[in-house]
Amino acid sequence: MTRIQDANADLARRDLRHIWHPCTQMHDHEHVPMVPIVRGEGPWLIDADGNRYLDGISSWWTNLFGHANPRIAAALADQAKTLEHVIFAGFTHPPAIELAEQLVKLTPAGLEKVFFADNGSAAVEVALKMSFHFWLNQGHGEKTRFIALTGSYHGETLGALSVSDVALYRKTYAPLLLTPILAPSPDAYEGEPGETPEQTATRRLDAMRALLEQHAHETCAVIVEPLVQCAGGMRMYHPSYLTGLRKLCDQYNVHFIADEIAVGFGRTGTMFACEQGNVAPDFMCLSKGLTGGTLPLSAVLTTQHVYDAFYAEYNAGKAFLHSHSYTGNPLACRAALETLAIFRDEPVLERNRALAAHLATRLAPLRDHPNVADVRQQGMIAAVELVADKKTRRPFPPEERRGLRVFLHGLTRGALLRPLGNIVYFMPPYVVSEADIDHLVDVACEGIARAVTS
Ligand SMILES: Cc1ncc(COP(=O)(O)O)c(C=O)c1O
Repeated sequence: MTRIQDANADLARRDLRHIWHPCTQMHDHEHVPMVPIVRGEGPWLIDADGNRYLDGISSWWTNLFGHANPRIAAALADQAKTLEHVIFAGFTHPPAIELAEQLVKLTPAGLEKVFFADNGSAAVEVALKMSFHFWLNQGHGEKTRFIALTGSYHGETLGALSVSDVALYRKTYAPLLLTPILAPSPDAYEGEPGETPEQTATRRLDAMRALLEQHAHETCAVIVEPLVQCAGGMRMYHPSYLTGLRKLCDQYNVHFIADEIAVGFGRTGTMFACEQGNVAPDFMCLSKGLTGGTLPLSAVLTTQHVYDAFYAEYNAGKAFLHSHSYTGNPLACRAALETLAIFRDEPVLERNRALAAHLATRLAPLRDHPNVADVRQQGMIAAVELVADKKTRRPFPPEERRGLRVFLHGLTRGALLRPLGNIVYFMPPYVVSEADIDHLVDVACEGIARAVTS
């Protein structure tokens, strides 16, 4: 029989025999431990040997209200005994109907129609195809291109990867991809010396205007991650960029796609990041937090105007053609409904504001660290940019993998921190306490101290 302290090793061995993990050079597991998690409890994950890890990154930014959340678990159990799945073409079910009604009420005015898919990348595929097809149905088949921001990330299926600009994910597959038009990001970290984030946003809007002037005739849509470019390094920008972008998209007759897959559902301080720019996009992509981090589900919301361009007698051939077997899965919809019910029943955004303020206070001293170029925060997302040289902001060479050292230290100290390269970030579930935040920051500071010494 396996002794309790051998349980991790046993599961890890079996895992590595057959499983190929995402975003992983599997060879790393010759020295990086595979951590078998057997249980979740609020913001904590518990491995097979009984070690506990505070989930500082909400398990890839999905979890909102804790692991194995009892309310969501009960709703799922009930749904599993009622209806687990049904084909979503020609058939429907109450959880999907209720969820669509609630999403339309919650999201910015004008978004009236909901198309379900299974994950974030699939939602981006839907939005890109729908935008292209809208223009085609309007007699504008010449519009075939998309504008994306430098440093953007919208997923890793071929369409979503096409409009992404993170070299790590894109470079290898570039020969397979569409060629987007890249607009310089309003990322405040890349602002000119002395420039405010708002001034950077204005300057970058000028660049977007110039691109639209040249390319609007062949462009379907501009796609952005509102306020925070997450996988690109938690780079943040001023909300005036969103306001200005909405105006430009209207002026040049291209769609505005807001990819709120990572930033939606309260992450940035408002329910949706677009609210801070006071804008309604033509397409809004939602996933991750939509089910509280329980099950894969995504939704693309769009306008009546877009919907009407597809609505025609069958033989006109205008229908939107996109389907996934698990579209609108009832279990996932039910988890999403319970997640939204928690938002209604509890003062989530108010509590997040207090937690975010505490996180900001705890991170502030890191600004003086000789290897920290920037500490930035937007609501429940905070990031610390580690550099080799504070003055010039020269980054550490990526091959030194300094961030990995922070991750490994975290594992020994009961914290799941998984930096993006040399950017250590915090994106905890909303159910953390101030003491939990203290733990994450303490462990991160220790990890950073180890990571920057040569
Ligand atoms: C902004 C954004 N869009 C799309 C995606 C892709 O979502 P998924 O991983 O569910 O395919 C992600 C994932 O991190 C994301 O951050």
